[in-house]
Amino acid sequence: EMKVVHTIAEVRQWRALFAGSAKIGFVPTMGCLHEGHASLIKQSKQDNDFTVVSIFVNPSQFAPTEDLDQYPRTMDADMTLLKSLGVDLLFAPTAKVMYPQGIPLDVEKQRGPFVSVLGVSEMLEGKTRPNFFRGVATVVLKFLNIITPTVAYFGQKDIQQFVVLNTMCNELFVNTTLIMMPIVRGTEGLALSSRNKYLCDESLQIANNLYRGLHAAETMLTQQRAVCTRESLLDTVQKIWQPFIDQGDFKVDYVSFADWTTLEEVNKFDGKVIISCAVYVKDRKDTTRVVRLIDNVVV
Ligand code: PAJ
Repeated sequence: EMKVVHTIAEVRQWRALFAGSAKIGFVPTMGCLHEGHASLIKQSKQDNDFTVVSIFVNPSQFAPTEDLDQYPRTMDADMTLLKSLGVDLLFAPTAKVMYPQGIPLDVEKQRGPFVSVLGVSEMLEGKTRPNFFRGVATVVLKFLNIITPTVAYFGQKDIQQFVVLNTMCNELFVNTTLIMMPIVRGTEGLALSSRNKYLCDESLQIANNLYRGLHAAETMLTQQRAVCTRESLLDTVQKIWQPFIDQGDFKVDYVSFADWTTLEEVNKFDGKVIISCAVYVKDRKDTTRVVRLIDNVVV
């Protein structure tokens, strides 16, 4: 039986039943669950005695211009999936529960405590989404404080999110181990994402080329690490994306070759490198619609 709760007091009551002894796994999500989320939950089920999942579309990680209102909400289907996976506790709070002072979308008007992980939050995604990781770090720390899990699971899909949160937990001495799970992809390579729901089938087909581009660079880097340059790697990606850029399907926000720990751009490819991208994909059916997709590979 999956228990569903909406308040902090209810989570704490449930948690108090297992004080100390049991291993508790936690998977935070924003709902609209897919196989990517399921893979984290399955791992938690394997590793722990009890698994907690949260569903909360966190307002503080959306900019006023972003898709907070449109973000897909599929609570009934999500609950069915979570039950079938054998989740023990679903925590689905309201914004009022998570932000007792309220959370105005205008960052200028926000009050109260927030967590900033300076440095790594400002790279890559942070450039286009300035307050995004502050919102993510804040809400995840809140969840960790409420649930006090032994282990929490995150996807490599949002690799910078993992780096930011892992830094936060290490440096703020949070007593939870964070684990990063591999990206779950569709059969033709597209990384599963709740935001894929915004695109028509034809554009989803085209979006598979995002991964094709990254994968080509990955292959090149694996096979000829010693002679690779940023330019040659970028060329390799570009070759695959160019037709879609020309047709107006893709508009590239960034392609990055970054160090795995600092997220700084690298020129030498001797260490672990994150090849990542953010691309605006235009929907072919509703051409007023543009969806920003991210993906990465680690080499
Ligand atoms: P959400 O986008 O719902 O993702 C929840 C978790 O699922 C994240 O750790 C994400 O990296 C992982 N995930 C998403 N797609 C995946 C895929 N294709 N393969 C593997 N894992 C995947 O990330 C968030 O929510 C929020 O920022 C959150 C951490 C919940 C804070 O609000």
